[in-house]
Amino acid sequence: MKEKKTEEARLPRHVAVIMDGNGRWAKKRLLPRSAGHKAGVKRMLSLVDQMFRRGIKYVTLYALSAENLARPQEELNELFSLLRAYFAENVQKLKAQEIRLSVIGDRSLLPADIVQAIEAGERDTLNCGKGRLILAIAYGGRQEIVRAVNVAVAAGKQVTAEAFSALLNTAEIPDPDLMIRTGRETRISNFLLWQAAYTELYFSDKMFPEFSEKDLDAALRDYASRERRFGRVKE
Ligand code: IPE
Ligand code: IPE
Ligand code: MG
Repeated sequence: MKEKKTEEARLPRHVAVIMDGNGRWAKKRLLPRSAGHKAGVKRMLSLVDQMFRRGIKYVTLYALSAENLARPQEELNELFSLLRAYFAENVQKLKAQEIRLSVIGDRSLLPADIVQAIEAGERDTLNCGKGRLILAIAYGGRQEIVRAVNVAVAAGKQVTAEAFSALLNTAEIPDPDLMIRTGRETRISNFLLWQAAYTELYFSDKMFPEFSEKDLDAALRDYASRERRFGRVKE
């Protein structure tokens, strides 16, 4: 019983995932990159369920970076189609599960109908309180910081770290405890730069579509074994 309590205490409250490797997953199978993105969405749906089922309260997924918008138009059109389908098919399911949906990123870079779908999804799930799913779409950490700086400058106010956090897209969302990146690269790629100051990082060699439930549990076990010191010394 005591052990179980410790386990629960070591479950991250907020897990952020950089879902990378769709293109290479497809290439290895001689499939077009679009097939990799489709497989990625399928895995994303099951991963979200698996994380909330384990009691994680906040799940943030890096779905599209601001920099990804410089990819070929054909690939972007495919990604936008997948986003449209995602919102059409999943908002009501999230609502039924009492999960609030939020989107972070620069909406002005997205097609108008996707912005509408985002706004409707956020509105429909606004009062859901069991968990929170945050999708990073057209998101860049530096851009988010610069937007917040400009808000502070326009207000003519000096900020504290706390007040600054409240100017970011992630205001009211606790910093991620664990960040998982699939796809073998060991970098952050402009994700949650401010928020990840003390986040535990976990890198997986698996391409995102093949990152399994077992792989999730391995990441959570690894997290549970870490000692978070936040700059202090161990007591
Ligand atoms: C991640 O997979 C999904 C997006 C960035 C939209 P990639 O498309 O980056 O896949 P790789 O890294 O080329 O394998
Ligand atoms: C990061 O992956 C962005 C997402 C997973 C959405 P990228 O494939 O864009 O990252 P880099 O280019 O390898 O750094
Ligand atoms: Mg990639």
